[in-house]
This record gives sequence, structure tokens and C-alpha cells, in this order.
Amino acid sequence: MTSPKNPLVFKIFTECRKTKARTSKIYLPHGEVDAPVFMPVGTQGTMKGLLNEQLYNLEIQIILANTYHLGLKPGREIIEKAGGLHRFMNWNRNLLTDSGGFQMVSLLKLAQITEEGVKFQSLNESKLEILLTPEHSIEIQNSIGADIIMQLDDVVKTTSTDVNRITEAVGRTSRWLDRCLMAHKKADSQSIFPIVQGGLSTELRTKSALEHCSKNVRGYAIGGLSGGESKDDFWKMVHLSTNILPKDKPRYVMGVGFAVDLVVCVALGADMFDCVFPTRTARFGCALIMTGQINLRQKKYQNDFSPIDKECRCSTCETYTRSYLHHIVTMHTVACHLVTVHNLAFQQRLMKTIRVNIKEGTFPDFVRKFMYDVYPDKK
Ligand code: GUN
Ligand code: ZN
Repeated sequence: MTSPKNPLVFKIFTECRKTKARTSKIYLPHGEVDAPVFMPVGTQGTMKGLLNEQLYNLEIQIILANTYHLGLKPGREIIEKAGGLHRFMNWNRNLLTDSGGFQMVSLLKLAQITEEGVKFQSLNESKLEILLTPEHSIEIQNSIGADIIMQLDDVVKTTSTDVNRITEAVGRTSRWLDRCLMAHKKADSQSIFPIVQGGLSTELRTKSALEHCSKNVRGYAIGGLSGGESKDDFWKMVHLSTNILPKDKPRYVMGVGFAVDLVVCVALGADMFDCVFPTRTARFGCALIMTGQINLRQKKYQNDFSPIDKECRCSTCETYTRSYLHHIVTMHTVACHLVTVHNLAFQQRLMKTIRVNIKEGTFPDFVRKFMYDVYPDKK
């Protein structure tokens, strides 16, 4: 489907009649991706606690890595020498790299953002000052060689009410997009996505989305959300953005992984999602179930000889009980691996259920039932 001139082909199969949900396939250089899709995050070029083999078994078609982390360690040169990240980590399905823009707000309190780029102290022993410019981010992403790459964006905390700062970030994100597009040397094999910013302001989001629309790109991301704002505000911003972004290109809502948000954002017309949540929470002994999550460390699971989830067909649920997982979860890291497998299987099953319901015309009923199950008091 893809060709040297076109490394991303997007085909919509079914559109929901009542919502903006759609099923699609995103054809990429390392295989096709069934969307709506959840993309697990392997920040440093590895999915913590899992082997590639297990990811293949879970039918995961695309994973994320991070430019900021990989640029620091092992560094651009080593990855280039290895022949790119796919080869370096021996992952033969799709990769997406985030630009490093988000890490400035999420990781680094001391980051300094100027028109030139983001300046920060490295987290490792060296304490070196690093300047990540749009050009540098793209240069690293070109070396990593992911199938989809992200522009460097100016991210403001979602809860910020500083209109001047959000206005500046929207303008800068557009200017940085132009610099990223200019610096991008591998447009034949890597598709770059702009990122819509604008905080919780209707006007600024609209401005950002409209500015990005005029660019010749193959897909779009919606960023700067899911950081502590109310669900109402968050969903409103996604709704507004998908109304502006072209219908015939994939839309990626960044940093979203809670089941409720996935269901709602699909209804609002989003196709791609990523979040560290399912894998990170697994390492704390938390397993996902349809109505939320259970913490296997809690004493009440000592006498519970059922699987994490009776409906789940993952190797963890087919093999171990909650009682056994409770027993090993505080002492053995293998428990983290087992719960990670389950949590990714959960995300995969949720997305598949969503796709099947859209395809069969039952998505609105599915959303209704899902919401009643998650919020039984609101019935
Ligand atoms: N991950 C989650 N949100 C964002 C965002 O706004 N920008 C980037 N670059 N990555 C993100
Ligand atoms: Zn399971």
C-alpha cells in the first residue's frame, strides 16, 4: 500500500452515523495499523518488562519511543550506526517517535523555552546543558527512523490560565512546525505530524488547528491535554479540534490511555492514542478491568482465586489467579511483567471492541452501556 513517495496511506472503512467515530487502516512502511489504535509507549526503545515477541503475540502494530531519551542515550550516532531504531531493537513493526517537546513540561521543571528551542540540564550525571531545537529534534528523529515522527511543539501545562503564554506557545508551535518541515530529510519514509496546541481556549485551539490545516502533511496530533483539566474541558478541546482537522487524515490525541477517554475521543473522531499509563501502572501492581483498575497489592486479593479478568484471554489471565499475583507482586519483578501483559491485552481488547462496534453500527449503544458500567450511580 505504501510507496517510496507515500509512506502513509489512510483508508476509512466505516463511519458511525451518530458520532464522529470511524474505523480505518493506516498503512505504514512497517505494516498496517487497525485504527482506532492504542499505541503502547517504550520510551527508551524497549517496552519495560516485555519482549518484542510478547508484543507481536499481543498483535501490537505500532509502539512509541522518545526522541529526548534516545538522543541522550545511546545517542544519535549509535542508533544511526545500528541502522535505525527498528534494527537496533529488532522491532519489525511500526514505530512513532515523540519530539521531546512534551518532556519539557512533564520531566524538566528547569527547562527554558526560547524561540530558538528548549534548553535544559540533562538528567544524567553529566548535567550538561542541552538545547533541543526543532532542527535538532528532526535530525535525531531522522536517525531513529520511526515511521511517524512528531514536530517539536511548545507545550504549556493544561491547567495554565496564562493567556499570553498560551498565545505565545500557539504561535511558536506553528513557527517550529515550519522549521521542522524544512529540516525533515526523510519525507519519503517518515511522515511528520503537526501538533495542535492552544490550552483550553476555544479561540487559540481553533487558531492552532487552522494554521496546521494549511500544511502539506499526512496526519495531525492534538496535544497539550490530559494533564489534570476536567474531562469536560478536555473532551471539548478534542471535539473542536476534530471539527477543524481534515476528515481524510489520521488524528492522534497524545497522552491519552484511560478507557473512558479512549471511548469518548473515538466518538469525537480521533484515531490514534498513546499513554504510559497501562504499562506504568502495571509496574505498581495495578491491573486494568472494564470499570477501572484493581491494585493486586491489596490484602483482599489474597483469597481471590479468580483471574484478573474472566473475559480476558491473555496468557496472564489464562495462567494465574489474583491470589497468586498478590503473593508475588511485592517481591518479584516477574509479577510486573505478568500484569503488563494483561494491561496491554486489555487495551488491545478495548480498541478491538470499539472497532467491531463501529463496524457493526452498534457503537452508540456500546458507548451508552460502557458509561453505565463505569458510572453506575449516574444511571
Ligand atoms: N504527549 C502528550 N501530550 C503531548 C504534547 O502536547 N506534545 C508532545 N510533543 N507530546 C505529548
Ligand atoms: Zn488478562
